[in-house]
Amino acid sequence: MSRVFNFSPGPSMLSEAVLKKAAEQMLDFEGSGQSVMEMSHRSPVFEKIITGAESLLRELMGIPDNYKVLFLQGGAYTQFAMAPLNLLPEGGEADYIETGVWAAKAADEAEKYGTVNRPASSKDKNYSYIPSPLPKPRGGAAYYHITTNNTIVGTRYTNLPETGKVPLVADMSSNIMSEPMDISRFGLIYAGAQKNLGPAGVTIVIVREDLLGRHRPLTPAMLRYDIHAENKSLYNTPPCYGIYIIKLVLEDIKSRGGLPAIYEINKEKANILYDFLDRSRLFKATAEKKDRSLMNIPCTLPTEELTGAFLKEAGEQGFVNLKGHRLVGGLRASIYNAMPPEGVKKLVALMEDFEARNAEKGA
Ligand SMILES: Cc1ncc(COP(=O)(O)O)c(C=O)c1O
Repeated sequence: MSRVFNFSPGPSMLSEAVLKKAAEQMLDFEGSGQSVMEMSHRSPVFEKIITGAESLLRELMGIPDNYKVLFLQGGAYTQFAMAPLNLLPEGGEADYIETGVWAAKAADEAEKYGTVNRPASSKDKNYSYIPSPLPKPRGGAAYYHITTNNTIVGTRYTNLPETGKVPLVADMSSNIMSEPMDISRFGLIYAGAQKNLGPAGVTIVIVREDLLGRHRPLTPAMLRYDIHAENKSLYNTPPCYGIYIIKLVLEDIKSRGGLPAIYEINKEKANILYDFLDRSRLFKATAEKKDRSLMNIPCTLPTEELTGAFLKEAGEQGFVNLKGHRLVGGLRASIYNAMPPEGVKKLVALMEDFEARNAEKGA
């Protein structure tokens, strides 16, 4: 068996321990005689899986008791509509900080439901930084929306904005569980699972209880947080198998020392790559230093030709999904929790070797 080093921005690699466990349990989950894919979502055996996943998520992220945890479908894209449908009253307004393509998409979707203010944006420099200091929320804002990690341009918030009584809403799709965070600072968090938590098809929502029940009258039942919360994510058939894999991922994170330990490893991995980029004459990091993401690291080469040549070599040696997003060009290494430090070290070795052979082209 030969596995590649997968730098995909999402869906992304999962740890081998998780995949092996899932393989072992594929035909017979814990003596039930069935695969998790085949069991009723209302059976006691599945109930144990979903409650286990929730309690591990609560424990590892430090989610306070006055928050509901939901396992939904539809990806972060659906949350772009659910957040305003559930939190923005008719004629209301909300603040959106525009730090990337996804942040802008979230704001564009919310605009269908009310007034969207964009009090700060980093679009002027291709979203390569997080605006600072961040403006306070407008008086009438129903909530204040941020994207804690910007997957395409490789920036992250290192400080959360002070929003006072205005609920802070966060798209945490690309850095959920990559570092400890104070959940009590947020009103609502959402994230697709397919980067740090498991397979595509599950969306994690963490919502403060006092924000439930504020939905617009016409909000479809499937898009109401309160209905999913009352039904403990079993209003309809949930993405059962994905939830099971998330539970395995959470067990794996716990066995590795939880978020404090994962955060240290994530910093170490990111530093290996940034240190190289900062000394390279060929590869250049594109995000502002102070706002650099630990999860997604874009960089550019001097020409398209060199970029293509590097990607080709990398692919041949088992380093895949390194092509940058068209907005930034170049390369992007997504190094989520499951990427071992060894993968980053080997990538840097490959980059160093490529640079040595092409040094004159970067001069
Ligand atoms: C920060 C962020 N938000 C939203 C999305 C869209 O997520 P989904 O495809 O789960 O709807 C992505 C996808 O990569 C993302 O990185």
